[in-house]
Amino acid sequence: MTVAPSRRAYSPVAALVAALIGSALSILPSAAGEGPPGASKAAEAVEAQDVITPVPSSLGADPERVALGRRLFTDTRLSRGGDRACITCHDIHSSGASAATRNLTTDGTSMPRNTPTAFNAALSFRLGWAGEIPTLADQAEIALTRPEFLGGSWSRILAVIQADPALDGPFRATYGREADRAAVIDAINSFERSLLTPDSRFDRWLRGDVQAITESERSGYTLFKGIGCAACHQGANVGGNLFEKVGIFVTIPDKAAEVLRVPSLRNVAVTAPYFDDGGVPTLPEAVRLMARVQLGRELTDAQIGSIVAFLGTLTGSYEGRPLTPSPAPDTPPQP
Ligand code: HEC
Ligand code: HEC
Repeated sequence: MTVAPSRRAYSPVAALVAALIGSALSILPSAAGEGPPGASKAAEAVEAQDVITPVPSSLGADPERVALGRRLFTDTRLSRGGDRACITCHDIHSSGASAATRNLTTDGTSMPRNTPTAFNAALSFRLGWAGEIPTLADQAEIALTRPEFLGGSWSRILAVIQADPALDGPFRATYGREADRAAVIDAINSFERSLLTPDSRFDRWLRGDVQAITESERSGYTLFKGIGCAACHQGANVGGNLFEKVGIFVTIPDKAAEVLRVPSLRNVAVTAPYFDDGGVPTLPEAVRLMARVQLGRELTDAQIGSIVAFLGTLTGSYEGRPLTPSPAPDTPPQP
């Protein structure tokens, strides 16, 4: 099940037009010093709610199903070789992703794409970099069984769960039957719906706490909207609700233009490396390239710094702790 990503329905074409119009506007100077500061900040925060909305603190997932899903998320016995789990690539103790450029398949080869964070995935309208996966349930089926991910088989997954009293009992109590494919997927999806990162400084500012972000972070946000980034990266996930071509003006070096789902920029400051191939190691470089290839603009280092500062305010908290970058790839997270 996916959750409606935004109150406003944006079409990709409309967004592209908006992006192009946005790119033609001159860059807004920082509003610092104009008018009574408190009043103008509050007015801006109200207006901002149209473009980016706060991450909800709950999607109402059932706590027992969440608890079961959490255990499955870290259970290596579900995988083909018994040596990996969802958390091997989606380290929910740090960023929900992995610091590796691309994680390894069960065959030991590089995956075709970088691992996106599992946090807030339930807020996106489609899943996967190309957005080709319609629902969280489809995604869980793929992750459990395809050899790139866990490579498990349903007969083995169900046998492991049914033979383990610590899982079998809770499954029967929660679902009123022994674990089956639908219940396993539902438990994992329930857990994923609890993987939300509310309470970022930016969301506190959206809710009216004018002190939650600094002047320079706020002017980074003004720039982000003014030059057209927000035409694609918007809604609760600051992305995740549109398909767009990557490389509208020029292509990213060594990459062909292709249509992808606009990724979420929630927690982007802690999810390096960037882009679907993990080919860009730093956030300033990712921002420089985005402005060039999507908006046809060359930003100054100061402008990049200001947008990067704004993006840093989008880091939220999970279970009361702010997300952090994942450990270096040579020390993969242990389940
Ligand atoms: C070997 C690393 C690896 C493992 C193990 C893995 N994933 Fe992923 N996950 C990825 C990659 C890579 C993608 C992006 C795939 C693509 O777009 O082609 C992804 C995508 C996702 C997404 C979509 C995120 C988004 O924003 O679109 C979710 C949700 C997810 N995985 C959950 C899971 C769950 C649940 C498990 C365990 C059942 C799991 N993953 C196991 C690497 C992994
Ligand atoms: C026309 C739509 C569009 C516009 C405008 C746009 N982006 Fe993007 N953005 C995308 C798409 C699509 C991707 C995925 C690119 C890829 O992975 O190859 C992306 C990726 C990113 C990433 C990397 C995210 C990650 O997790 O790897 C960042 C950071 C980013 N954009 C920031 C910005 C900024 C800052 C601006 C304004 C300067 C901007 N974008 C403008 C569509 C857009």
